Amino acid sequence: MTKKIKKIQVVNGPNLNMLGKREPEIYGSLTLDQINADLAQQAMLLGLDLRFFQSNHEGAIVDKIHEIFDDKIDGIIINPGAFTHTSIALRDAMAFMSCPIVEIHLSNIYKREAFRHKSMLADIVTGQIAGFGHYGYQMALNAIANMINES
Ligand code: DQA
Repeated sequence: MTKKIKKIQVVNGPNLNMLGKREPEIYGSLTLDQINADLAQQAMLLGLDLRFFQSNHEGAIVDKIHEIFDDKIDGIIINPGAFTHTSIALRDAMAFMSCPIVEIHLSNIYKREAFRHKSMLADIVTGQIAGFGHYGYQMALNAIANMINES
């Protein structure tokens, strides 16, 4: 029997398109394109179909979540940016996904301002990775690949 290639969606929220230029002392010097290129390479080695999406607009991200729900995605890596702390709409959209979801943050949000300590998604995602810079995305992809392989 041929094995179906698993589809993983990476979603990045507002201001993450400015990585590399945006507060590099907090978020690092790699651009989002560079992070995605490394991830694409890793996905190829893992035999995964990895897709990328970034938007600065809350509704566009919710629409994307609906689209990948209909497309029966196998895993999600999401850095919701500032929507992490504010978006009930994004939380509601993610709440009915049944695949593994990793919430990732480049910075350790718990070491920063109090308003960043609360994540609207924390209790509906599979797990969170925060504070490892761009390595967090690679850690998330590995975790999802392992979980999918086991299931
Ligand atoms: C972030 C942390 C958020 O608090 C912030 O609004 C971001 C990026 C991170 O990756 O560390 O935009 O999600």
